[in-house]
Amino acid sequence: MNAGRLARWYRPIEYAAFGRSLERCRFAFLPRLASARRILILGEGDGRSLAQLLRIAPLADIDVVEISPEMIALAKRRAGDADRVRFLCDDALKGRWPARYYDAIVTSFFLDCFTEGDARRLIPRLADCLAPGGIWLINEFAIPDNGWRRRHAQLWIRTMYLFFRVTTGLQARQLPPISAIMREEGMRCIDRDQRRAGFIVSEVWTPADDLSRRFSE
Ligand SMILES: C[S@@+](CC[C@H](N)C(=O)[O-])C[C@H]1O[C@@H](n2cnc3c(N)ncnc32)[C@H](O)[C@@H]1O
Repeated sequence: MNAGRLARWYRPIEYAAFGRSLERCRFAFLPRLASARRILILGEGDGRSLAQLLRIAPLADIDVVEISPEMIALAKRRAGDADRVRFLCDDALKGRWPARYYDAIVTSFFLDCFTEGDARRLIPRLADCLAPGGIWLINEFAIPDNGWRRRHAQLWIRTMYLFFRVTTGLQARQLPPISAIMREEGMRCIDRDQRRAGFIVSEVWTPADDLSRRFSE
């Protein structure tokens, strides 16, 4: 995916299509990261989540992995040149992170950029770098199970994949089964918020081991 050409237009296009729904989705659970010390953001885009996080999590060092130099330039402009932020302009698929290191991971409308095969390579590596007790915020599109909500989501998602294929060369053609892969990797969703008839979701995931430990204490 080459989001460079789209970078400047990304926010106006988003507002035209979804109003503030995606923004509310991105920000919904960020306050949970208030005491985090190490945060990893993948596919940050134009810096809106980063700018919020710098305010919300004053003690956090934040690593940002973003493949588009244009997006990184926008993010730097929006978030300022905080010395707590480390930008890595690279393909997340090549990433290697230290095990059990980050208190939190944030991915917003990022995992949908991958084919199922690539998502299956990426998600386990990310799950491994989450520290015990850590949380992973996943803000994404989703397809409800049935009814008009399902058809509504499918129509939007088909349209978006076509749009991003034409404008950025996106290879993925459909949403990877993110929740299923997360569960296979031993992660559990502990909180969920949805918008637009279930088509836009904000989720909080944590390692299932941590949950069973919490309940047995
Ligand atoms: C759909 S945009 C979402 C941007 C932002 N997170 C948001 O909430 O709007 C996907 C972002 O992920 C980045 N991206 C896509 N594939 C990537 C990869 N393999 N490695 C790192 N960043 C990637 C794109 O450059 C783009 O900024």
